[in-house]
Amino acid sequence: MPNLKPTLRQLRVFETVADELSFTRASERLHLSQPAVSIQVKQLEEGVGLPLFEHTGKRISLTEAGGIIYRCSQTIRSVLEDAGEQIDELMGIQRGKLEITVATTASYFASRILAGFARSFPKIAISLDVTNREGLLHQLESNQCDLVIMGEPPKGRRLESTPIMENPLVIIASPGHPLAGRRRVPVREIGQQTFVFREPGSGTRAAIIRFLEKKGIEIRITMEMTSNEAIKQTVQAGLGLGIVSRHTVELELETGSLVELDVAHFPLRRSWYLVRRSDKPMSPVAQRFASFVLDREHD
Ligand code: PGA
Repeated sequence: MPNLKPTLRQLRVFETVADELSFTRASERLHLSQPAVSIQVKQLEEGVGLPLFEHTGKRISLTEAGGIIYRCSQTIRSVLEDAGEQIDELMGIQRGKLEITVATTASYFASRILAGFARSFPKIAISLDVTNREGLLHQLESNQCDLVIMGEPPKGRRLESTPIMENPLVIIASPGHPLAGRRRVPVREIGQQTFVFREPGSGTRAAIIRFLEKKGIEIRITMEMTSNEAIKQTVQAGLGLGIVSRHTVELELETGSLVELDVAHFPLRRSWYLVRRSDKPMSPVAQRFASFVLDREHD
């Protein structure tokens, strides 16, 4: 009777080698060294008491014992996955509801994150609300949402905030603007320009105004608008400069329909935060979404 007590790690390594039919490719896929992969397979073989792979020249293939262990390993994995889904269901994750509110500017990347989350948890009903900073603070205050993505959460309110990615603010212009292409423009020169700004209540606007006040620079705001899209189009039409998050103009900067000016102190460095009320228990769905956001690779 073989002494079959494989660890899940041994099975995972063995399955990868069997899928790839190569120790080298398996070690690359698993981000392990090749000796580490060989040791795991060897330990499994010792427990089974028979070789799991046979070597013909440089090629390897599964032995009969290898085939048995491979099928067994797949069954174990699918049983565990099934158990995981049942636990999720028990915790109300699979069929729960997620209510999330994001800053107007954050909607440019938040929908991408939500799409990834919806693919992993297709039965969760997601509701996304988009509003400016002032609206977000009001929603947090009145307990209207599970989680919020915003810039600079205010201190001193019962909020728990985790930074999730950078939010650089850049000055944009139409390609024909006299400052386009100039290097290291001194920041005081922007005082002579006209600007298209976001509305009062916008976090982007508040951050820019704070910066300009600190530097003692006065600018002329010719127009105010509640949407970043409207700002981009107005700037493209040559009606002034705009200061927006780089997230909102990635495509236009790539195609050259807008340019980013090289002005001293810019981009202004800010961050996006995932925020929740610290005095309100998080639902299992909100907890799962928070870990999804924090675990993903940030672009
Ligand atoms: P907003 O973005 O300008 O769309 O309100 C929030 C923020 O940047 O803090």
